[in-house]
Amino acid sequence: MNQASVEPISTTGKVIHELNDLLSNYHIYYQKLRKFHWHVSGPHFFELHGKFEALYNDARSQIDEIAERILTIGSRPIGNLTEYLRTSEIKELSDTLTDREMVQQIVNDQSMLTEKMKILIDSASQVGDEGTVDMISGFLAMMEKESWMLKAWLA
Ligand SMILES: [Fe+2]
Repeated sequence: MNQASVEPISTTGKVIHELNDLLSNYHIYYQKLRKFHWHVSGPHFFELHGKFEALYNDARSQIDEIAERILTIGSRPIGNLTEYLRTSEIKELSDTLTDREMVQQIVNDQSMLTEKMKILIDSASQVGDEGTVDMISGFLAMMEKESWMLKAWLA
């Protein structure tokens, strides 16, 4: 019987750990965007309500791609909210923010996410995990652009 030989994807536990860490942080970021979408008010309501929705839709699809990348490279993505809350460096907010404070929060969270992405790209490229490098590089460039636009709005 012929058995196809399948080369395992080159990666390490460190990369998987960093992908799961990014996944946790992304979930908290995602939920904060949803909350801001609901809670925003004032003269910029229409633009920010729409912008926050666009951002959480991007985050939702990126979350799915990260989780499925973890499966692709042979591990299991974290799936419990309790675990996301426990491990995420990005924290939930209980207070009510002004629209400017919301945008500033998003910029801060994006800065944390992009730092994590850069570390992950470095770890993945060191072990030849080009699929992870490629995927995360795309997210990074997209988030850097979003961040630039939000900072321009704040200026
Ligand atoms: Fe909505």
